Amino acid sequence: MPAGERFKTLRTVGRLYGALYEAGIDRKGLVVTVGGGVVGDVGGFAAATYLRGIRFVQAPTTLLAQVDASIGGKTGVDLAQGKNLVGAFHQPSAVYIDPDTLETLPRRHVRSGLAEIVKHGIICDDRLFALVHESASRLCRRGSMELDAAIVRSCEIKAGVVTADETEQGLRAILNFGHTVGHAIEALTGYRRYFHGEAVAIGMVSAACIGERAGVTPLDVRPALVGALRGLRLPVDLPADLSTEDLLGAMLRDKKALRGRHRLVLAERIGRARVVEDVHPDLIRAGLEQHRLLARD
Ligand SMILES: NC(=O)c1ccc[n+]([C@@H]2O[C@H](COP(=O)([O-])OP(=O)(O)OC[C@H]3O[C@@H](n4cnc5c(N)ncnc54)[C@H](O)[C@@H]3O)[C@@H](O)[C@H]2O)c1
Ligand SMILES: [Zn+2]
Repeated sequence: MPAGERFKTLRTVGRLYGALYEAGIDRKGLVVTVGGGVVGDVGGFAAATYLRGIRFVQAPTTLLAQVDASIGGKTGVDLAQGKNLVGAFHQPSAVYIDPDTLETLPRRHVRSGLAEIVKHGIICDDRLFALVHESASRLCRRGSMELDAAIVRSCEIKAGVVTADETEQGLRAILNFGHTVGHAIEALTGYRRYFHGEAVAIGMVSAACIGERAGVTPLDVRPALVGALRGLRLPVDLPADLSTEDLLGAMLRDKKALRGRHRLVLAERIGRARVVEDVHPDLIRAGLEQHRLLARD
């Protein structure tokens, strides 16, 4: 199957149904997805819906898919109106991760995946965060022991959170740390300028600034986060051409915004985060403005 975002569509799923039918796959059949998050999401959604659901196995080959997308059972496709608007929860029977596949992955994609590892450290595990902070250069090297260890720990964290809350009623939402602003940046820049992990890196810094304003995030979190992201050569500054009001508007259009209210994941310290409902727009404005000032430091 072809890879890349423009194939994460119902049209590709339709072609997969046809291929599965032609191959004589019945209810006992098994789909194996080999590729990045796009292949996993599309193949998983086809498996979730073909004959009302057949088994599938994920074999993710990007860092982002290995530490995030392949785990948790979310599958789906994009519509012209927005990303991931159609989907299903369908758990893979197994996830097969071989870090050797990362040998051929372009460095920028490796860094994008590392942003999700930083996120897992911030929300659940200060030791993972310290590993990332202290071993940045070795983490960027594919095949290093540090990267392998970070992949294992990240998978444990994502699997642990998802097992506790499979259908995203509560706890699972903490996995969205950095994603509210990150998604807004991706949408406002047409999903072209930044890779997902890059937008999340910027979004995590915004979340730290907003958390400070809300009195939830202690002042030592943001400098540590910025230091870790810079060490991984990930972007940390808000794009200068996006206004605060544009960002606020796009955040409300995010499908996870609750009935016109801002719901954010904020860090209580490095290693712990919680969902804060109904954050006042003025606090968000102040946090975003503070984030903007950091670029001038
Ligand atoms: N289901 C979930 O829970 C979940 C979570 C996070 C992200 N996602 C989805 O994942 C997608 C992004 O995934 P991604 O970052 O893996 O992008 P991707 O699937 O587009 O892969 C990135 C690029 O890397 C190439 N590639 C894949 N493996 C390679 C390898 N080993 N060597 C060289 N090139 C390789 C692909 O062909 C593609 O061009 C988004 O659509 C996002 O919505 C889903
Ligand atoms: Zn993500």
